Amino acid sequence: MAMEPSRLNQNPVQQQGQAIQTVVGVSAQNAVNEAKVQEQRPLEGSPSDIMGHFDAHKLLDTNADVSIDVQHLNFFYGAKQALYDVAIPLRERQVTALIGPSGCGKSTFLRTLNRMNDLIPGSRTEGTALMDGTNIYDKNQDVVLLRQRVGMVFQRPNPFPKSIFDNIAYGLRIQGKPNSYIKETVEQSLRDAALWDEVKDRLNASALSLSGGQQQRLCIARALAVKPDVLLMDEPASALDPIATLKIEELITELVKDYTIVIVTHNMQQASRVSQYTGFFLSGKLIEVSPTVDLFERPKKKETEDYISGRFG
Ligand SMILES: Nc1ncnc2c1ncn2[C@@H]1O[C@H](COP(=O)(O)OP(=O)(O)OP(=O)(O)O)[C@@H](O)[C@H]1O
Ligand SMILES: [Mg+2]
Repeated sequence: MAMEPSRLNQNPVQQQGQAIQTVVGVSAQNAVNEAKVQEQRPLEGSPSDIMGHFDAHKLLDTNADVSIDVQHLNFFYGAKQALYDVAIPLRERQVTALIGPSGCGKSTFLRTLNRMNDLIPGSRTEGTALMDGTNIYDKNQDVVLLRQRVGMVFQRPNPFPKSIFDNIAYGLRIQGKPNSYIKETVEQSLRDAALWDEVKDRLNASALSLSGGQQQRLCIARALAVKPDVLLMDEPASALDPIATLKIEELITELVKDYTIVIVTHNMQQASRVSQYTGFFLSGKLIEVSPTVDLFERPKKKETEDYISGRFG
């Protein structure tokens, strides 16, 4: 559905400020609804104004090594092709945001990167995704090892119905790590996920007693505990209120110093706030991938321009 760019006349700091007022003063539900309305809105005004409040663009490194180099990727759900000849270099210690209309293949693409699609009967992948010289899609690829190296965080937080501590310790216990290592790593992972101070006094409480935003940071901590190289995030904040969203965005801006991150988002403001590179998908094709500031300010393709200015999608 076409949207009017002129309806957008707030920068994200104003948006968040209003959201905080709303949560604190009036109604958290209103704030959540407002956040949902903000989703899918095109960027308004000058993207550099919006990005100016955040530092993500300052972290752009055009010489960064490529962590996963995807070439000629085709993906099929049975007879239905969902991805067409996708090529994208996912750069080390950079955030790559993936945007595009619903059903364009963003989640499908993300799931090819840790072979989560293998679980879907009849699915088929062609092409290469080179990580340290080996093809992720090779039939000899050790998938368990791959999923340790390429962790994933989903749209809805999905903690195990276990204690906070046991959620983080889970993967480490499977790996047979000693208790002292587990204890140390649980604390470090919770610190890295900006959750430690909120939970340090109740590590044995159920993870399900945490708020949605805390649960999502717990899931991030759980993914970090097994020391991945790459973190995949599929709309990690779309089920959260604006304050929890801001915390996740700040966290991503910290984590990028140590991890390669690929994030799917419907929210173009979010892409511009957290990412250094953005890829635009349309109907299973990667139309364009560029440094985020270029993609939003100087899109190379007409389809990208139409999408970011709200003419379709
Ligand atoms: N398990 C599946 N079996 C068959 N087709 C699927 C399956 N999952 C997704 N698809 C189809 O593949 C295409 C891409 O879907 P995908 O979920 O990757 O899109 P998306 O860009 O993530 O969309 P959204 O923004 O709504 O999450 C869609 O046409 C979808 O219907
Ligand atoms: Mg999706």
